Amino acid sequence: MDKARQYELALQRIRALIEGETDAVALMATIVCELHHGLDHFDWTGFYRVVSPGVLKIGPYQGGHGCLTIPFDKGVCGKCAREARTQLVPDVTQLLYHIACSGSTRSEIVVPVLDAAGRVHAVLDVDSDTLEAFDDTDARCLETVCQWLTPRFLSR
Ligand code: SME
Repeated sequence: MDKARQYELALQRIRALIEGETDAVALMATIVCELHHGLDHFDWTGFYRVVSPGVLKIGPYQGGHGCLTIPFDKGVCGKCAREARTQLVPDVTQLLYHIACSGSTRSEIVVPVLDAAGRVHAVLDVDSDTLEAFDDTDARCLETVCQWLTPRFLSR
């Protein structure tokens, strides 16, 4: 199955599963689970949440353990949170500020979870053991999923 089809099916499942849900942890855990098991090139999938100004803390994830805290001035996740835009890293060895949680990671994508005012509430981080695993399809689909999040848990 190609990547576009894997996303189509995963996004369909996620939309159905999160229908009516407004709890942030329930939403994030379900999204991470469906993406991680639905996409062949995902080897670590998880959210980091903004818990205080300039600080990201690990949220629901699948894969080996991730770092617990990432300040906004560190790592690809920090850059995503700082700039409020998607970061695509085709080769993590070429990026000095990349934080290596696993030695097997070769490429990475990080997508911001934004509210209507453009404030960052979390980031969705996906790592792959394959070089250049992520492209515009990943960015578009993961941004779509992240856009489903904030209106739900902010409506509580
Ligand atoms: N690679 C990330 C750190 C998080 S782990 O990959 C799970 C970064 O550079 O921010």
